[in-house]
Amino acid sequence: RTPDLRQIKTGSDDFGLMGYDPAFLNTANCKSAITFIDGDKGILEYRGYPIEQLAEKSSFLEVAYLLLKGELPTQKELENFTFNVTHHTLVHENIKSFIDGFRYDAHPMAMLGSTVAALSAFYPDAKNIKDARSREIQITRLIAKMPTLAAFSYRHAMGLPFVYPDNDLSYVANFLAMIKRIGTSAFKVHPTLEKALDVLFILHADHEQNCSTTSVRTVGSSQVDPYSAVAAGVGALYGPLHGGANEAVLRMLREIGSKANIPEFIKQVKGGEGEKKLMGFGHRVYKSYDPRAKVIKRVADEVFDVTGKNPLLEIALELERIALEDEYFVKRKLYPNVDFYSGLIYEAMGFQAEMFPVLFAIPRTVGWCAQWEEMVTDNEQKIARPRQVFTGAARRDYVAQDKRK
Ligand code: ACO
Repeated sequence: RTPDLRQIKTGSDDFGLMGYDPAFLNTANCKSAITFIDGDKGILEYRGYPIEQLAEKSSFLEVAYLLLKGELPTQKELENFTFNVTHHTLVHENIKSFIDGFRYDAHPMAMLGSTVAALSAFYPDAKNIKDARSREIQITRLIAKMPTLAAFSYRHAMGLPFVYPDNDLSYVANFLAMIKRIGTSAFKVHPTLEKALDVLFILHADHEQNCSTTSVRTVGSSQVDPYSAVAAGVGALYGPLHGGANEAVLRMLREIGSKANIPEFIKQVKGGEGEKKLMGFGHRVYKSYDPRAKVIKRVADEVFDVTGKNPLLEIALELERIALEDEYFVKRKLYPNVDFYSGLIYEAMGFQAEMFPVLFAIPRTVGWCAQWEEMVTDNEQKIARPRQVFTGAARRDYVAQDKRK
């Protein structure tokens, strides 16, 4: 789509041309060296490394280091990074009062967004965004504390006591322990499930200028602290068209109920005015198969070998098969995205649907932080302040209330 151009000259140093590009379909908001996507070919690379290789050979914290620093770490660098993240997982005790204050049925993602924002009040030093060392500490805290906040939110929603982080466990195993541990019994996570969640975290770690990352950059461009900026990212990710999609996929699969009902459901999607969508399908950038969805399908098989098959999987596979042969979806280049299968895995691992966007927010925090760091150190970046094409009333005089029609 060619943006409409309108001449609005605001000053003698203003060129006077403005692009009209709602939702930034054609607008690059920044330069970035972090993540590369080729939507037509289905390519995703972090710092040049293909996502398939990272998912197979790397680990989440190594990928976090790569995204943040630009290079894969040496063994020593990874040990230091892991040590620092592990030793920042505790949250201030008063954070628990925040979580305790929420309704028993509060959505964990709503609690997560609020408590991440609250970290800004606990770390006033975070305002010092010009200082590289301070930024590094805040980023470490964010990556370390996100699983703790997420687990506390979950335990509150389940009416269970909070479980404190365990420094002897890996990033993923510690998160699972904080979620699942009952009483004082030792927690043992199945290595296949630990590996599967680690791979899912790698796949979700960054995705260039998506809605939540753009929100983090936009809010961060005012030079606010990173906790406030990341809270904006959590808010954006909460929406059903973004990180809330995997939750919506499961609801959709349940609504469909059986393979026999799929043709009727697809008919409703095609016949409507866009009010009913095939959730987990389509992407603003990918116009072919989402490379993350391919990896997730493989992970799903490994997880289901341990947990037993999710009965909704059969419906999902058949839905994909039918949609990929259907003229409507083919013409619009609608393929399964990362969210189509991830919810099935999370459910098989015992997570409630409300936790799905939270499971997305934890790893995406790395991408948000890497993009925030890149933005605040980029001299070309200014405060985000788009223009508008004004369509309202022309100047008119105030009308007294008794004269209004
Ligand atoms: N089901 C049915 N039709 C769809 C779908 C879908 N999932 N997605 C897009 N379309 C149709 C649109 O109705 C539109 O049709 P039209 O040309 O006849 O009007 C056409 O395909 C183009 O779609 P747009 O909405 O213009 O595409 P856009 O890039 O704005 O939206 C989005 C991308 C939001 C991801 C969309 O495909 C969607 O809503 N998908 C379902 C929600 C989802 O899975 N979100 C997760 C995205 S991945 C992530 O956030 C990690």
